[in-house]
Amino acid sequence: ALYGAARPNSTGCDLADEATLRTLSEALHASRATPVAAQALLADGRTASGTPRSVSNPGQHDDIVGHVRQAGAADAAHALALAQRAAASWAATPAPERAARLRRAADALQADLPAFVALLMREVGKTAANGVAEVREAIDFLRFYAAQITDPRWPANAKPLGPVVCISPWNFPLAIFTGQIAAALAAGNPVLAKPAEQTPLVAARMTTLLHAAGIPRDVLQLLPGEGETVGAALVADARTAGVLFTGSTEVAKHLQRTLATRVHAGADGRATPIPLVAETGGQNAMVVDSSALAEQVVQDVLTSAFDSAGQRCSALRVLCLQDDIADHVLYMLRGAMAELRIGPATRLSTDVGPVIDAAARDAIVAHIEAMRARGCRVWQAPLPPQAERGTYVAPTLIELDGLTLPEREVFGPVLHVVRWRRGELDALVAAIHATGYGLTFGVHSRIDETIDHLTQRVQAGNHYVNRNMVGAVVGVQPFGGEGLSGTGPKAGGPLLLYRLLADPPADAVQ
Ligand code: NAD
Ligand code: ALA
Repeated sequence: ALYGAARPNSTGCDLADEATLRTLSEALHASRATPVAAQALLADGRTASGTPRSVSNPGQHDDIVGHVRQAGAADAAHALALAQRAAASWAATPAPERAARLRRAADALQADLPAFVALLMREVGKTAANGVAEVREAIDFLRFYAAQITDPRWPANAKPLGPVVCISPWNFPLAIFTGQIAAALAAGNPVLAKPAEQTPLVAARMTTLLHAAGIPRDVLQLLPGEGETVGAALVADARTAGVLFTGSTEVAKHLQRTLATRVHAGADGRATPIPLVAETGGQNAMVVDSSALAEQVVQDVLTSAFDSAGQRCSALRVLCLQDDIADHVLYMLRGAMAELRIGPATRLSTDVGPVIDAAARDAIVAHIEAMRARGCRVWQAPLPPQAERGTYVAPTLIELDGLTLPEREVFGPVLHVVRWRRGELDALVAAIHATGYGLTFGVHSRIDETIDHLTQRVQAGNHYVNRNMVGAVVGVQPFGGEGLSGTGPKAGGPLLLYRLLADPPADAVQ
């Protein structure tokens, strides 16, 4: 791992251990007993003006997790004024001191893991395993960027950008939220954090933890609210010096258009374009040839396509099977899908939880029905009766005709299947590229030439060979895409912090 000796990755907790399960169960009880109240966390304690709205568990709608009072555009402007005033003192805080506070936050998060996992299970419908993995990733981001700025290679006189806006998605409401903040803070910038509308509670808890770990309240402010209002106001404001965004390609394009119309005047008066680091969606493919080990393929496809109910940007969307093994693999895959335990994430045995909300469910179901109407063969795993109590979509297979991949990302447990024949590999690569996306790519083969042929040609940020294609590990597998999938540099890699400096050293690879 990069900076490995100084930065071991978090081990999380062992979900096979009885005492750990008991602690997790107690954390769930405690979480139910105390609804979370979230609101803007502004440096001067001003409260946001919005009316409170409740946040319910997507897996069980009568489970109210807490309430949020949303911020508005005026709060964004106020927070930016406070952040601008805080910029100089945070920039002057020595890098080892900034790193110490990030490490303190990492330790505090490790200590508070059960409570965060419980909140992730209830607010976003993460399974226990996904919740633990998410807490681990957040800890890793904090330690990784802390290690980078205390490494002798970090430029001693690095000059930060100024106020950085961090806009995060609901599907990693802790890991990506924390990762963006940790990167911007490590590079010496004050942060305005705008979490997704669906997940303000975990964001508020994490912000409070970061403050307690020593990040000053004017250096990190939280603005829960609508993207179109508070998010847009933050991005359009002349005081914003940089934007870290993770979310849909559509919103990233919109932000890019806004930022293209203006420049930021730095402390020395020099006007510079405003950096936008955007990590977006994918139309991720896995190519399987007839030499692949079918049992391993099925296991890895289940994880890649249906873990987190398919709500990962990295998730497998199009499985490309060589025709002579396709029927055999699909037969085994349908059998394995029928065994998946679908239900509320708060049941510790659940494999596949809910999708985030009714709008997401309706959009996914509309896609499935449109494909059925077009004549595609559709197969779905059975949904249990309790699915009516939340927003669930049955894990679904859709067989496509020909080599054309769907144009748009469908963000849920839907796997498209394409059959290809010997001699069609390059046509398949062209079809993958024709989508314009380039996030993750997988190959299953026992023929080295096929693996090399594909991995040398397919342009995607992260390649996975003979394994599943989700769950990139910070520092070990820097994560980010190409084309419509992102602007780079990758999260959890060594280049991101340089994009958050006003004067990256000439020899820093961009
Ligand atoms: P989204 O684009 O709808 O929202 C992301 C964030 O942008 C939210 O905080 C939202 O409030 C904000 N936003 C929306 N409109 C805005 C505007 N006009 N101005 C400023 N901010 C605005 O995405 P989502 O539904 O929350 O997340 C799912 C998407 O994120 C999927 O496309 C997924 O592939 C992508 N994603 C990518 C990565 C990655 O690393 N590449 C990781 C996770 C998710
Ligand atoms: N980094 C996350 C993954 O690899 C999105 O699944």
